[in-house]
Amino acid sequence: MYIDTHCHLYKEYYNNIDDVIRESIEEGVCKFIVNGCDMKSNKEAIEISHKYDNVYAAIGFHPTELDDFSDEYFDWLEDNINDEKVVAIGEIGLDYHYDNTNKEKEIYVFRKQLDIAKKYNKPIIVHSRDAIGDTYDILKEYNLRGSIHSYSGSIEMAREFTKLGYMLGIGGVVTFKNAKNVKEVVKDIDLSYILLETDSPYLTPEPYRGTPNSPKYIPYIAKAISDIKGININDVRGTTTGNAKRLFDNLND
Ligand code: NI
Repeated sequence: MYIDTHCHLYKEYYNNIDDVIRESIEEGVCKFIVNGCDMKSNKEAIEISHKYDNVYAAIGFHPTELDDFSDEYFDWLEDNINDEKVVAIGEIGLDYHYDNTNKEKEIYVFRKQLDIAKKYNKPIIVHSRDAIGDTYDILKEYNLRGSIHSYSGSIEMAREFTKLGYMLGIGGVVTFKNAKNVKEVVKDIDLSYILLETDSPYLTPEPYRGTPNSPKYIPYIAKAISDIKGININDVRGTTTGNAKRLFDNLND
């Protein structure tokens, strides 16, 4: 069984989420962690996790979704963090990609959510884009566990994150021909630190690149990793599923 540790199965992206889940299970992808990004999607993540036994939620406020952010949202996060289907705080982090980035605000919201993760002993799912240095420096101050989602940094930084105890989320990018960097990271980092994820509906793996992503494509990501590491795909499946169950407590059942 595979686990998709990071996807966005929101109604605005998919006409029929029942179908997405059924088709994924047919491909051996049997558990899903739906990540929220803002208040609307966080509520939807919790709602869908209650609808399906095998769907779990990560709730948090994404660095590029902070325009309407209000401090009361931290209270909402605390009020919902102990929901039985909420397995992590995510998707949270730093994103310095856009010119109008408000770094101070991003860092403030990120740190407050890390404080909540610490208080409730919850793993985190981290988004980091053009901000890997600051992400690392901040996480180093906290003794937390989690996933660096869609990891795109250097091998050196990958090693540093694993030393802090973080796992690296690897998705469709690893199947792209020109993704030299991610392939090198996958080759270098021990499989015990790798999580599979799709980031659906984004980052669709080859050979379906250019169409909407689905958790059902996880086996293509596993295949690419098995090719790069020269190991059996069953080992990739078994180890990464074990990693996810170790990191996200409530997935064990
Ligand atoms: Ni995402």
